Parts: sequence; structure tokens; C-alpha cells
Amino acid sequence: MITEQNYHEAATYISSRLPHKAKIAIILGSGLGELGEAIEDKTVIPYTEIPHFAKSTAVGHKGNFISGTLAGVPVIAMQGRFHFYEGYPMEQVTFPVRVMKLLGVETLFVSNAAGGINTSFKVGDLMIITDHINNLPNPLIGPNKEAFGTRFPDMTRAYDREYIAMAKEIAKEEKINVKEGVYVGLTGPSYETPAEYKFWGQVGGDAIGMSTVPEVIVARHAGLRVFGMSVITNEGYHFADDFVNDADEVIRAANAAGERMKRIFMKLVQRIK
Ligand code: 6GU
Repeated sequence: MITEQNYHEAATYISSRLPHKAKIAIILGSGLGELGEAIEDKTVIPYTEIPHFAKSTAVGHKGNFISGTLAGVPVIAMQGRFHFYEGYPMEQVTFPVRVMKLLGVETLFVSNAAGGINTSFKVGDLMIITDHINNLPNPLIGPNKEAFGTRFPDMTRAYDREYIAMAKEIAKEEKINVKEGVYVGLTGPSYETPAEYKFWGQVGGDAIGMSTVPEVIVARHAGLRVFGMSVITNEGYHFADDFVNDADEVIRAANAAGERMKRIFMKLVQRIK
């Protein structure tokens, strides 16, 4: 069981090692290391050194807490996240978000690799997340942590409208093609069957993945403003006889889109700061 004291201990430890405060935090998803590389004047703290942090085990994910500047703006970033499918309780999966809140963060950027279920999406496309459908256990189940937020937090505009508008404007300036859509969060770790892809598409999903939604719910509970993007790493609507989902392909596709995503995030932090 994680106590309020545990969040404070982690935050106190991290702030003792950080040279400056940041208002923006970024969770870097699968293969999106390029954005992490763009952070300058880095202080890197391995998760293993932070009190009460879980250990990251997912393929393609490092386990570092990073502080530095992105395009001249102070940021903190998580290089690697915790997934429910790794076996962590939701409290551990979302632990860093509350620590970020205690560190003074006001805005959370999230990124991930996701399967395309909207048939107009292609591998390598970027999707601005406009909403989500949660099919993981809700991370707020249990006694409400009043210090962070209310029992029944609103989720009608979980993904900040102003940030979405800014990101679209930036994409246009940079001549980067961006899609918009609804992210479906599932537990994984198995990929979906063709029937499941079809189902999630029919109920309003555009992309599908195994992360992000828990962090976003906890961030909104704590009053953080959220912006999220997915890299489409496979086309789940192909029901060809030889179609297979492959985790290495997913990471390759995510890496290939990293540069475009980085350009959007760098301009966005400059506009928000
Ligand atoms: Cl196709 N499905 C799920 N559940 N997660 C993914 C994915 C697909 N591609 C990347 N992450």
C-alpha cells in the first residue's frame, strides 16, 4: 500500500537532486527516445534510486527520471513508464504522476505507441489524443486521496482543448501531417484479435494501446492539464491471412516517427511555458 508519505518521500528525494523546478512533465513512451535525447543540461536519476518507485521491465523502455531543458524550457521527463501488464498495481503505475504534481508540475505530456484501428490511419502516422476509452481498472479505485483531488473527478475534457489547438497549429507550421482520435486503453499484454479490433473501432476508438489512460486519469484527478500523442505503429484493421503483430516492428515504427513528434513537443513547450 502506498501512503501519502511515500509520494512526499519520493518528491523530496527527487527535488534534492534537481537543479531547477519545471512546470511541464513528459512521459516518453515506447521508442520515443528521440525526445529524451533532445533534453539538454540533463540530470538523470534512475528509478532504482528513487524511494517507492517500481522497476521498469518493458522492452524498449528505460527507467530514468530526467530533468533538464527542452527548447530552453525546464522540463522533467520519465524515460520509461510502468504498465499494468507488468504486474504492478495501479498505484505503482501512476505513482510518478502524483510525485510530479508534488514537484510543482502543472502540465503533463504523454506519448505512446498504439495500434491503428481507424482504417484511414497508416503506420508512422501521429495522432493527437482527443479523448480516451478506458478498459483498464480505474487507478482511483480505493479510498480517495483527498490531498490530490476529488472523489468523482470530471473527465469531459481530459485532453486539454487549448493544447490540442496549439499542437494542430504547430503541425501545420511544420508541415507535419497529424490525425486526431480516441485512444482505447487495454491491459494487454496480448495484442487484439481481429474481432476485438473491429469491436473497438465500432464503439468509437481510433487507436489502441496498453498505457497512458491510468496516468491521464490520475493527472486529471490532481488537476494537471494533459496533452497526449500516439504514434501509429501497426494497422490493426488489416485482416490479411499473413498479418501478425510484432513488438519489434512496433518499436521500429515508433522510432521512425520520433523526429516529427519531437518537433511538435518542442514548439508546444515553448508556447505553454
Ligand atoms: Cl496493435 N495493440 C495494443 N493493445 N497495444 C499496442 C498496439 C496494438 N500497438 C502498439 N501498442
